[in-house]
Amino acid sequence: DSKQSFAGKKFLITAGPTYENIDPVRFIGNHSSGKMGFDLAKEAAERGAEVILISGPSSQKANNKNITLHRVTSAQEMFDEVFKYYDNVDVAIMSAAVADYTPKVKATEKIKKNENELTIELVKNKDILRTMGEKKTHQLLVGFALETQNEEENAKGKLVKKNLDMIILNSLRDEGAGFANATNKIKIFTPTEEQSFSLKSKEDVAKDILNFVEQKL
Ligand code: PMT
Repeated sequence: DSKQSFAGKKFLITAGPTYENIDPVRFIGNHSSGKMGFDLAKEAAERGAEVILISGPSSQKANNKNITLHRVTSAQEMFDEVFKYYDNVDVAIMSAAVADYTPKVKATEKIKKNENELTIELVKNKDILRTMGEKKTHQLLVGFALETQNEEENAKGKLVKKNLDMIILNSLRDEGAGFANATNKIKIFTPTEEQSFSLKSKEDVAKDILNFVEQKL
């Protein structure tokens, strides 16, 4: 796509999982590879946007001069990094799979095995996207919903509850969708519209999402 439709626009995009440390050796994470977010960043950059990409642990690479990559590990770090930039962007797209819970205590030494069972107490992380919704002024705010049941109802619920302009639903019940795949199958909701897309490469899914965003700017 050579048209510079996002020239002069600033995008904030998140990608990848977060890792919540249990001790210096172990963490709680998820299967996000970061590909969906990196593909969105690349497509936005190719359309002329200045992209701040904030990614959790991922082997994906950003090779575009319009992308500034910030790597973080935990949900708290992602939260802090996002709010350094949020005020100054035109569009924010949250494709990261952020942990909802984190160990209450992060052991400073490796936890040793013994005869007993081990219980790890988890406390809630702050919801980054919801906080962005609360602080929203001029930004176009786009979230993702990764669901396994009651998909549409849950996605529409998140659209309203998190004060979003757009939400992208992907369901793990659809073969080839979600993480660990090079493909995805999405449905986009705004407060007044919905549009379904077929299974396609994440590069092409990124194009569909950004075409939709383009109409809203
Ligand atoms: O990285 P890939 O392997 O390519 O996979 C892509 C993906 C499946 C991770 C991606 O397409 C996707 O669905 N990302 C969102 C995953 C997710 O955490 O969904 P959720 O329904 O649990 O969260 C809803 C929204 O709130 C998301 O935009 C999420 O970024 C955000 N959130 C959630 C929790 C939290 N504490 N803070 C958040 O900002």
